[in-house]
Amino acid sequence: MGQALQRVEAKSNIGSWASKGGLPLYGLFTLLLIAPIALCAWAIELKVWSVALIFLALGLGLCALAGSLYSRLEAGNRFIEMSVDMFCIIGFDGFFKSLNPSWQKILGFSMEELMAKPRIDFIHPEDRLSTEAEVSRLQNGEITLAFENRYLCKDGSYKWFLWNAVSSPRQRVIYAVARDITERQRAEQERHKFIKTLEAANHELELRNREVERATQLKSRFLAGMSHDLRTPLNAIVGFSDLLADELPGSLNPKQKRFVNHIKQASGHLLQLIKDILDLSRIETGQLELHCEEFHIDSVLPEVLSTIRPIAMAKNIQIQQKLKSSGHVFADRVRLKQVLYNLLSNALKFTPENGTVEVSCYEYGGSICTSVRDTGIGISPENREMIFKEFRQVEDGSASVREGAGLGLAITKGLVEQQQGKIWVESEPGMGSRFTFSLPKAAAAARVFAIAVAENVNDPNLVS
Ligand SMILES: Nc1ncnc2c1ncn2[C@@H]1O[C@H](COP(=O)(O)OP(=O)(O)O)[C@@H](O)[C@H]1O
Ligand SMILES: [Mg+2]
Repeated sequence: MGQALQRVEAKSNIGSWASKGGLPLYGLFTLLLIAPIALCAWAIELKVWSVALIFLALGLGLCALAGSLYSRLEAGNRFIEMSVDMFCIIGFDGFFKSLNPSWQKILGFSMEELMAKPRIDFIHPEDRLSTEAEVSRLQNGEITLAFENRYLCKDGSYKWFLWNAVSSPRQRVIYAVARDITERQRAEQERHKFIKTLEAANHELELRNREVERATQLKSRFLAGMSHDLRTPLNAIVGFSDLLADELPGSLNPKQKRFVNHIKQASGHLLQLIKDILDLSRIETGQLELHCEEFHIDSVLPEVLSTIRPIAMAKNIQIQQKLKSSGHVFADRVRLKQVLYNLLSNALKFTPENGTVEVSCYEYGGSICTSVRDTGIGISPENREMIFKEFRQVEDGSASVREGAGLGLAITKGLVEQQQGKIWVESEPGMGSRFTFSLPKAAAAARVFAIAVAENVNDPNLVS
């Protein structure tokens, strides 16, 4: 009981000591002693954690970088493996160090074969010098862009390559990529060859044109000369045979009369032929003089019909007229008669006895159309174009064809076209033919003519 009392007393002593200010001092002292140590430990721990975290972050970053670099390398490698272009690394010693599979596919050699020999052995002998020069440029640090040379294939042929390359003097290698341009080169060569052939053909054509021009001029000169030299004596033959046939110098016996008529007919034909050839050459060289005026077709037709009527009567061919137009043409009266005569004489020549020939005239748009229709032998489709060319006749062996020289329609076409007209034919074999030509109506044609005259006046060459 007494001990218990002492403990209670002691406790109450301490309590009184504490209440008197003894305990705070002791706590403060302890705190001051421990705090720096604890702080130090905490700071060290923090640093360790920070460093660990930094290392972790760095490690993770490096891992990611290495991963992306690796995947990039992998992708690059895949592209190189799959590429149709040829990638390679060439050592300064002249040997291939690395090649992608394309090399094997394009040249046919295995990688080992390609790497076993100096690269120059695969190059076309004619391209070796230029290649060596390019390589030394590269080794001096320059870049190769679009260099071309030929490489040997396993089958002995050569392929054209187009190169881009750079060198790494430190590693003593060249990084290069080549493209197979053999097809492009071939196409280019073909194009060059084609252009050369075309140029040669053009040159040839030009020479021929000049020759033709010269020949045409010579022909015109010859024809002009011939016209004078042949027509003068021929006129005498025609004139005197006419006189003889008319028995003006004295009567002839029947045999003499027959002979004279032969001379008259033959010389008449010859004169006509010479006139036709001359006309044609004038049309071709543009030397035909036209004297255009306004008139109605009606006014020239009777004269032409009277010339050919005897032939029609001899074959009992009826000539009908259907003139429905009152419009005037603006044309050369004499030349229009010639056109009508050629068409009508053909119609009569190629129509059998008892047939019909019809002349009609009508207006169509701004033109006056004149048609000569017959019930004759007709023309097959393949000959319808050809007959308008000079000296061309349908070869059916009939006597009527053999009579002419094949100039009438060529002259007719030329005459119509020089007067701003057109000519065409509709026909079927055995069904007759219809030849039609159109000429501009007077007012329209006069306008065109006036413009042409004005242009010629302004042309200094023509004025002189
Ligand atoms: N009305 C026609 N009917 C059938 N054939 C024709 C007719 N007109 C022309 N031809 C054919 O066109 C050819 C050329 O005619 P053309 O140039 O006048 O020459 P030519 O009368 O001297 O034979 C004739 O040979 C003939 O074959
Ligand atoms: Mg004829």
